[in-house]
Parts: sequence; C-alpha cells; structure tokens
Amino acid sequence: MRPRFGAPCVLSVLVVAPLYFLCFFLIKRQCGPLPLMLTRLCSVGVMLDGDKRGNSRMAHLEVFSSSADSSPLHDTKRRRKVLERPFAHIVRHASVIRESDSPSLFPSHHWVPGLRFVFVITPTYRRITQRLDLTRLFNTFALAASNVHMIVVEDSVNRTAKVERWLNDSLLLHWSHLNVSSSSGLRTRGAEQRNEAIRLIREIVLNEADAELKRAYEDSVVYFADDDNAYDIRILDELRKVRNVGTWPVGLTAGPRVAQYCDVNSTTGKIKKYNAWGGHRPYTIDTAGFGVHVRHFLRDPPVLWNPKSRKAYSESDFLGQTNVSKWDIEPLADNCTKVYTWHVKTHIGDKKRPADFDKKFDV
Ligand code: UGA
Ligand code: MN
Repeated sequence: MRPRFGAPCVLSVLVVAPLYFLCFFLIKRQCGPLPLMLTRLCSVGVMLDGDKRGNSRMAHLEVFSSSADSSPLHDTKRRRKVLERPFAHIVRHASVIRESDSPSLFPSHHWVPGLRFVFVITPTYRRITQRLDLTRLFNTFALAASNVHMIVVEDSVNRTAKVERWLNDSLLLHWSHLNVSSSSGLRTRGAEQRNEAIRLIREIVLNEADAELKRAYEDSVVYFADDDNAYDIRILDELRKVRNVGTWPVGLTAGPRVAQYCDVNSTTGKIKKYNAWGGHRPYTIDTAGFGVHVRHFLRDPPVLWNPKSRKAYSESDFLGQTNVSKWDIEPLADNCTKVYTWHVKTHIGDKKRPADFDKKFDV
C-alpha cells in the first residue's frame, strides 16, 4: 500500500529543495560565506574601543569601511563606485583614528589626523518645521562622521531640552549646543547666534591642550549652514579644500537662475564673473555658498557677522572683513559648476498650527 503522504513528500523534494538551494546560492553570492558575515557583524565597533557612544555612532560607517577592500559584497564595479565616493575619506582614514580626552571632542573622543576639521555653525529657532529641518541637517553632516564639529546655537533665552534631545539622538560625532536670544529690531537673522559660535570656536582652538588636535583645529574650515537649507554631503569635500575663502554654487537662490555661481578664467583659474541676483552688492555670495579658514576667527578682532547689516548685505559685510577680494576667492566644486547646496525654505502650507504644537508631540 502506498503511503498517503507520498505526494506531499515528492512535491517538497521537487519544489522546496531547489528553492532552498537557490536561496542559499543567492545569499552566499551577495553576502559571502556565513562565517565571514558573522565575523564582520561582530567586528563592528571594535575599532573605536573604549567609547560606547562613539562605537554605536560609527557602527554604520565602519560596516562600509571594513568591507570596502575585502568583501565580496562589493566586488561589482557599480557597488565599488557607489561606495568609494561619499565614504572615500572615511575608508582612507579609518585606520588612523586618534583618541583624545579634549572636552571639545563630544560625544565621541575620536578624531582622524590628516582629515581637515570642519566647524559647521547653525542658528536655529522654535517653529513648526524646526525638528524636520534639524533632523535633515544632522543626518547629512553626521554622514561625514569624522572631524565635523556641529555648533547649534538656539535663538532663545535658554538652551531647550528638545534641541539637546535631537542632538543626542543624532549620529553626529562632535557637537556643541549654545543659545543666545536675538536683540530686538535686528535685520540679519542668525547673526548674533553665528557670532556666539565664533566665540566658542576661538575658545576651542586657542585653549586646546592636546597639541596635535590644536594643530588640526588651527587649520580647520568654518561653514555657516542655516537650518532650513539642503546640503549634499560632498560639500564637505569642497570645504576641506578651502585655503582662505572658497566659494561654490548655491542652487535655488532668489532670482531667475536655478543657481548662483561664478565663471572661472581657465588660464588663471580665478573667478572672472559672479552670476547672482543683487549684482550691486560687493560680494554676491549666499551664506550657504562659502567656507572660511579658521584663521579669520582667531585674529583680534575676529571676523564677525553684523546683526545690523542692511537686508541682503550681511554676507558682503562679513566677507569684506576677511580682506580677501571677491576675485581672490577660490572657485570650488569643479570651478563652480557643481551644486551641492540649496537655499530653500521648508513650506508646509498656510494652515495655522496651534501655538503649543510641541507640547504633546515631538514634531
Ligand atoms: C538669508 C541668508 O541666507 C542668511 O544667511 C541671512 O542671515 C538671512 O537671509 C538674513 O539676512 O536675515 P533666510 O533663508 O532668508 O536667509 O533666513 P532664515 O533661514 O529664516 O534665517 C537664517 C538662519 O537664522 C536660520 O538658520 C534660522 O534658523 C536662523 N534664525 C532665523 C534665527 O536664529 N532666529 C530667527 O528669528 C530667524
Ligand atoms: Mn533660510
């Protein structure tokens, strides 16, 4: 007598077994042998040993860096290309991470010698899109991982617990949280907050006790990243090229052009024309469109923002103090041909929201 479960048995041998082998083959092809996968997963975070928060923050990047050269995961040309670009600096420098107990390195105590430090200054104030804007901003600059110090300055009488929480929740490796309430009747938004950040940078650089870190800070670059703009991570590669003052295009600034940019003389390599609205201004560069060497903030008196600048003149008033003529500003982002920053504003419609919108939800 034939057993009744004969048919299901045959079916499972014919269907399930080939499927099983197919899945096994595919997984192996994509991820490499199982022991290798497990080793890789276990080794995540080992490099930054001693700093729990640093470990967890770097973990996602270390997966990329440790697997970059050896993993079969990346053996196709396309994957290698995707991997090499934005993470190139991390992969290149991952083996020379330094540890320092300098209080400026918070929350991670690690930094990478040879990779220029970038201080990113962001003024911010309470509004319904604040968390949305700051989340996107932190995500972008956290991707750069090492040697980026984000200074967030709230326009408020106190540092709020919610901004502190968002910073803590972010993957940023180095940040400072300050506040200064804007004086009334000023025309330039964010100016007093940026100046407060400049004061902190002076304190950090001039008082740094770790000699190697101090030298790195003394050659750092400063960027003013308003919280509502949009940024491509590659802006950091451009910032790291700034020798004195550097500029690049800014997408979607006011005016009919899709981007504010400059033309470069191919013989001299210098800027020969600026294409931007408000051509009467001494420097037709938006805040998002330039980076400055830290030396301009270490001198006495430092270059500062003027909170009383006339509308649209704040960048000119600021850049004028550097004593770098607009023709000596370095054209970056492939001679001002690439857009890595956009001057935009988060628009959520005109519906009125309750004044206590952040009481119940961390929106
Ligand atoms: C433009 C320029 O890009 C800014 O660099 C310049 O400071 C500003 O104009 C100005 O001259 O007032 P815009 O997009 O018009 O920027 O201004 P916002 O994005 O509203 O403000 C610039 C920064 O200041 C933002 O990071 C914002 O969060 C902050 N801000 C704004 C405050 O800290 N307090 C405020 O009351 C308003
Ligand atoms: Mn803005």
